[in-house]
Amino acid sequence: MTTTSAEELREEVRRRYAESARAVSEGSSAGCGSGSCCEGETDAVNFGETLYDAEQRGELPEAATRASLGCGNPVLVADLNEGETVLDLGSGGGIDVILSAKRVGETGIAYGLDMTDEMLALARRNAQDAGIRNAIFLKGVIEEIPLPADSIDAVISNCVVNLSTDKPAVLTEIARVLRPGGRIGISDVVAEDRLSPEERAGRGSYVGCIAGALSKGEFEAGLDAAGFEQVSVEFTHEVADGIHGAIVKAVKTSQPEREGLPVIQPATSAGCC
Ligand SMILES: C[S@@+](CC[C@H](N)C(=O)[O-])C[C@H]1O[C@@H](n2cnc3c(N)ncnc32)[C@H](O)[C@@H]1O
Repeated sequence: MTTTSAEELREEVRRRYAESARAVSEGSSAGCGSGSCCEGETDAVNFGETLYDAEQRGELPEAATRASLGCGNPVLVADLNEGETVLDLGSGGGIDVILSAKRVGETGIAYGLDMTDEMLALARRNAQDAGIRNAIFLKGVIEEIPLPADSIDAVISNCVVNLSTDKPAVLTEIARVLRPGGRIGISDVVAEDRLSPEERAGRGSYVGCIAGALSKGEFEAGLDAAGFEQVSVEFTHEVADGIHGAIVKAVKTSQPEREGLPVIQPATSAGCC
């Protein structure tokens, strides 16, 4: 029996989404049905551009809409405000970064992070076509986010966590870059707890966003372990038997307990000023 290493799996994901980006750049859609996140969806109603309302689609260049490969609408979930700094993990063709950049306005910043050069090039073109000046696209992996600690107000992501080969690292990194009290609003594919990893793999491929899905309980426990509170994972629509599009929300604990830090005693009147 041959096994696929994490590195090989990540490379397979990268190749697949580079193909999608090339297809969009050449004028077709992102390639639903050929191994992308909308694989197996005959009418693709559960993935991609149909998850955005007409008003949002009206704000976007056509290529950004066509490149959409998500399974939800994280910009709505994150409830962004003017002046905030937002980070989109696995930003693809840039649809959620462009929408976020508009929500946070010129005093805010929308970062997009993706490992696929072809997607980054497409996203930068789309942001330029949309007249966006406060979006920054970074190359890197979501398991090692190239941003400083405590620098982000909201982390969003659309159908990407399931593609990671090291999900605990992703959740730890999200917790690191968020400011205390910062929040996540993630759309992802999530399995019912009754399904074993083998049963999930039997319902779809890894690059198709099915086989790598965490279960609801695994997602909740992972966020808890990474230092989040107010954790919720809500199913929105079924994409395969026992596998759903889901909205994941959580808030970074305001005062994380950090091991090894000295305990600071309150100042006494004698020692003060
Ligand atoms: C299913 S597409 C979703 C794209 C976008 N979020 C959207 O809604 O259209 C997955 C994207 O995540 C990127 N990606 C997958 N795994 C990644 C990882 N470990 N680190 C960084 N980017 C990753 C891929 O290159 C691809 O652009």
